[in-house]
Amino acid sequence: MTSDPVVLIDGRELELSPGERLNAIQAAERVGIQIPHYCWHPGLTVVGSCRMCLVEVGTRDAATGEISMMPKLIPGCNTPVRDGMVIVTNSEKVQQARAMVEEDLLLRHPIDCPICDKAGECLLQDYHFQYGRDERRADIRPFTSRRRDIGDVTLFVDRCVMCSRCVRFCREISGTNELMVVNRGAHEEIDVAPGFPLANNLSGNVVDLCPVGALGDKDFLYRQRVWYMRRHMGVCTGCATGCSIWVEENQDRIYRLKPRENPQVNRWWICNEGRYGYPHVHHDQRLAQPLRRDGQVPVDLDWTALPAELLERLRSAGRLAAVLSPYLSVEEAYLLATLVRGIDREARLVLGPVPVVGEDERFPNGFIISSEKCPNRRGVEEIIARFENGRITALDHFLPELADGQIAGVWFSGGYKNANWIEEEKARPLAAVKLLVVQDLFPSAISALATYELPAAAFAERDGSYVNRNDHLQSVRWAIRPPHGVRPEGTLYWEMLGRSGLYNAREVLREIAAEIPYFHAAGAGVPDVGLNLKVNSLAERT
Ligand code: FES
Repeated sequence: MTSDPVVLIDGRELELSPGERLNAIQAAERVGIQIPHYCWHPGLTVVGSCRMCLVEVGTRDAATGEISMMPKLIPGCNTPVRDGMVIVTNSEKVQQARAMVEEDLLLRHPIDCPICDKAGECLLQDYHFQYGRDERRADIRPFTSRRRDIGDVTLFVDRCVMCSRCVRFCREISGTNELMVVNRGAHEEIDVAPGFPLANNLSGNVVDLCPVGALGDKDFLYRQRVWYMRRHMGVCTGCATGCSIWVEENQDRIYRLKPRENPQVNRWWICNEGRYGYPHVHHDQRLAQPLRRDGQVPVDLDWTALPAELLERLRSAGRLAAVLSPYLSVEEAYLLATLVRGIDREARLVLGPVPVVGEDERFPNGFIISSEKCPNRRGVEEIIARFENGRITALDHFLPELADGQIAGVWFSGGYKNANWIEEEKARPLAAVKLLVVQDLFPSAISALATYELPAAAFAERDGSYVNRNDHLQSVRWAIRPPHGVRPEGTLYWEMLGRSGLYNAREVLREIAAEIPYFHAAGAGVPDVGLNLKVNSLAERT
């Protein structure tokens, strides 16, 4: 019987699964050892150019246990580990090599950290403190700090360490080839061809890939120091791909959205639409005051008595319907459906408008920007299907039904990111409804008809789960508090259902998982935050 391959890294043994292919950086990471690196990135091809990852490599004789090391250091990034390999990452020789690489890079690098956006998360800075020399041996000459507009991002030419990650990204991931290396030797620079700027829908990723401050995000530039921000796990609600993201904020203001690695969904990337798709959260036109419009003059309401008032109005309205927005989380959709069905057992449940723009945009590495511009159509559909015995009615098909006056009360959930998402003409049938409750982010043709106009929470302000186009469910928690006057949907439904304590999305998801086979995989035994799984892997919809 052959045993699994074993690698020895700084004296720690790592057992590899049969057929597993790792390089020395990845193998070391498995046993908790960081090998510094600039040019290597798991999502890109290996070039082995920066030499920061140099390590000592040798072999161990299986029979005698004797170790023999190679005389030269070799780059860990392009060294696949194999059975019997010995890797040393902390010897004097390795330390010296790292210090030399750092020294060389800093000969030409401007020391402009106080005005560099990357300061605080810069690998050159971090590695210098960890591996650099204490003293500077070269003369400190005045440095240049050239800045060049190369399209979607700003290039700080002299900060570049020529790792070429950005060039490889444009070649291998976006497939757009805008970036290239010009000149040779110490004069090498990143540039674009004249008249062909960096302009593709994934271009923001080159800023994340840049290990130093050479590529600056125009949206984020000089707006916030990174050490003031806190990051929270989030899901992008820009399209049905549902990329995992980090929401980075300071005092309830979002400054940056960045991709969060998720091998099953977006790997290391997000598109620009998602990355820059947060300004609506802080827009001054957002609804922030609940209103009642029974007469001609709207009356401002406060949240204390509102849940009870809404319940009373819904109970006395007659036949009800609820329009469940594809921007609601799974838990919110379930609670809203439970709420209206608890008042009227025959209440209609309808899928809110699903915004679709153009066609899917596909990139060479398989990344897809979905044409469906909402995060949770699949999840909301499954909730509706459960309550409506498999029937899913779209809003377009439901609106004509209002003409006969049978439906007296409609709860319309929104969450759409602008004020013009529905035309006046299309919204008109809702004018016939006696009681119309609309909860949305912005005033719209529908909220103008509402008896009750309620402000809604934005994506970063709510707890809950979203199911993407491939039936992949992710759960996240709120990252920022909503503006004063806004009560997130889940909290409101929870209160109206008379549940005790604070809104608990995880508890609701457990309930859903127990009740609806499609969601079984999201049941007990999985952590609250960062739930990340294929929902129909255990049970198809029944
Ligand atoms: Fe290995 Fe750059 S990371 S040479």
